[in-house]
Amino acid sequence: MPTLTPQFWNTRWQNRQTGWDLGQASPPLTAYIDQLPESARDWRILIPGCGNAYEAEYLLQKGFQNITLVDIAPVAVEQIRLRLDREAPGWGNHLQLICGDFFDLEGTFDLVLEQTFFCALEPHLRSAYCSKMYQVLVPGGRLAGVLFDRDFEGGPPFGGHTSEYLPLFSSHFTLRTLAPCYNSAAPRAGSEVFLLAQKDEKIVRLRNNLEFCTAF
Ligand SMILES: C[S@@+](CC[C@H](N)C(=O)[O-])C[C@H]1O[C@@H](n2cnc3c(N)ncnc32)[C@H](O)[C@@H]1O
Repeated sequence: MPTLTPQFWNTRWQNRQTGWDLGQASPPLTAYIDQLPESARDWRILIPGCGNAYEAEYLLQKGFQNITLVDIAPVAVEQIRLRLDREAPGWGNHLQLICGDFFDLEGTFDLVLEQTFFCALEPHLRSAYCSKMYQVLVPGGRLAGVLFDRDFEGGPPFGGHTSEYLPLFSSHFTLRTLAPCYNSAAPRAGSEVFLLAQKDEKIVRLRNNLEFCTAF
């Protein structure tokens, strides 16, 4: 699916061209995680294009028990494995680490965390990103995270704006939040929006009962 090939990303990791790496969990995401209810501890949580996945370490520290990480670059996955071994012994009981393409991923999740993965994909894949997110989320499941609200020359990263995200995400999800971040990491202050999109149970039920619906 990606035209930016696995080799492209692997070479970026090999050459340490990882300028996107914040070196810490993204503050808007940790704030989102902090307000989740106790009952969310056993949610199946996916982080696609996870890179160094600092958010996964944060989730482990907070007691989340069912985390899946996926990245297409073997070098990245090996790096995370080594870091988790060092920083979070026993991580394998609660976390699955997959080297692969998000678009080929199987399984379903209650929550997907987005952190500079959307912007790493070429813009023509944005609709496919939404469809795949819809596929991997359970009814009522949530996609939460940050998106850039600015342009870039070339890419990746590829920029974007709320005016584009609104129709894109609302064609698949109920938009709970799409608003400027107040708590971005300093280098990204003023250039991010927080997205919380939910796969609506009601819409799924209606889709599954299409005959019932069209009868009215
Ligand atoms: C801009 S980096 C972001 C990494 C991490 N989320 C962060 O914020 O530090 C994008 C990551 O997505 C991975 N990636 C790119 N295309 C992918 C795909 N189709 N499936 C899974 N991972 C992918 C790359 O290898 C890279 O690690």
